[in-house]
Amino acid sequence: KAGWPGLIHAYRDRIEIPEGAEIVTLHEGGTPLVHAKRLSALTGSEVYVKVEGANPTGSFKDRGMTVAMTYALASGIKAVICASTGNTSASAAAYAAKAGLTAAVLVPSGKIAMGKLAQAVMHGAKILQIDGNFDDCLELASKTAAEYPVTLVNSVNPVRLIGQRTAAWEICDVLGQAPDFHCLPVGNAGNITAYWQGYKAYEQGLPKMYGFQAAGAAPLVSGVPVTNPETIATAIRVGSPASWTGAITARDESGGLIDAVTDDQILAAYRLLAGSEGIFVEPASAASIAGLLMTAEDGRLPKGSTVVCTVTGHGLKDPDTALLGVTEVEPVPVDPGAVAHALELA
Ligand code: F0G
Repeated sequence: KAGWPGLIHAYRDRIEIPEGAEIVTLHEGGTPLVHAKRLSALTGSEVYVKVEGANPTGSFKDRGMTVAMTYALASGIKAVICASTGNTSASAAAYAAKAGLTAAVLVPSGKIAMGKLAQAVMHGAKILQIDGNFDDCLELASKTAAEYPVTLVNSVNPVRLIGQRTAAWEICDVLGQAPDFHCLPVGNAGNITAYWQGYKAYEQGLPKMYGFQAAGAAPLVSGVPVTNPETIATAIRVGSPASWTGAITARDESGGLIDAVTDDQILAAYRLLAGSEGIFVEPASAASIAGLLMTAEDGRLPKGSTVVCTVTGHGLKDPDTALLGVTEVEPVPVDPGAVAHALELA
């Protein structure tokens, strides 16, 4: 049996690509939807986790990138550019390498997780560290793409969000219908926009969309852009989301909400998910779990619901946060008795 072909092939009748285009794919998509036993018990609902860290570069960005890079290659352009808090740049770098194109990535200086930087380096991207935040990087990338022969592959490129819709379709395919609630982290707001468009187009029912921003970077909650966004969840350290309107539409049309979770709530959910469900995600991804726990606790998420939480990126992207507070791992002599003693078995 042939393996998963990648999402353009899997949903060939629903994703339009240019006539005769070579499809640029790393067989992204088809990610696990894992039933979360302990989160279900804690919330009184049936909770499933959509594990997007299982994509080829370790985040959901690959779903958009296969489509964006297929279009870029077909257009005859030689280079692509993006702004990124790290995952978009890792994905753009990998897909550009696969396509034989040059990738230029603009990242906020000192504010991207180490694993993501390593990916951009290994895939041969031209990495430009900008003395500013993500919002500054995006403005710079957009202006450059408007004036020079280089294609912008951020989610403001509409074909990227078409690819990201497929995650909603996969969930409906597995559950047989849409869930009652869908929780996800929100940064630049492309993903919540794409999921909502995806659910609407698939006609398998509509969930209430519950988006969660980090408290220090929550413009969609306050209603005004944040000049100096700050959070440990660097992936969603965004003050002025490009898909602002899309996120508000998803919230309002679905009867959902967009709320903020603190860094402490994010870190608690991050540890709970890894320690009790076996799913290691990066901090930004845990915002969906933090939001799930918060709304289950305060009653906004009624018991007995079917809930999907998207976790957007793999935990190995950000080893520094995982090891916060870990000073040293205890050395043990080469002796079964000593091992048993350390494990309190004897
Ligand atoms: N989770 C992770 C791990 C992300 O990398 C991002 C966005 C989000 C959630 C939020 O998704 O922007 O569609 O609302 N990362 C972008 C990047 C900004 O540059 O990689 P969104």
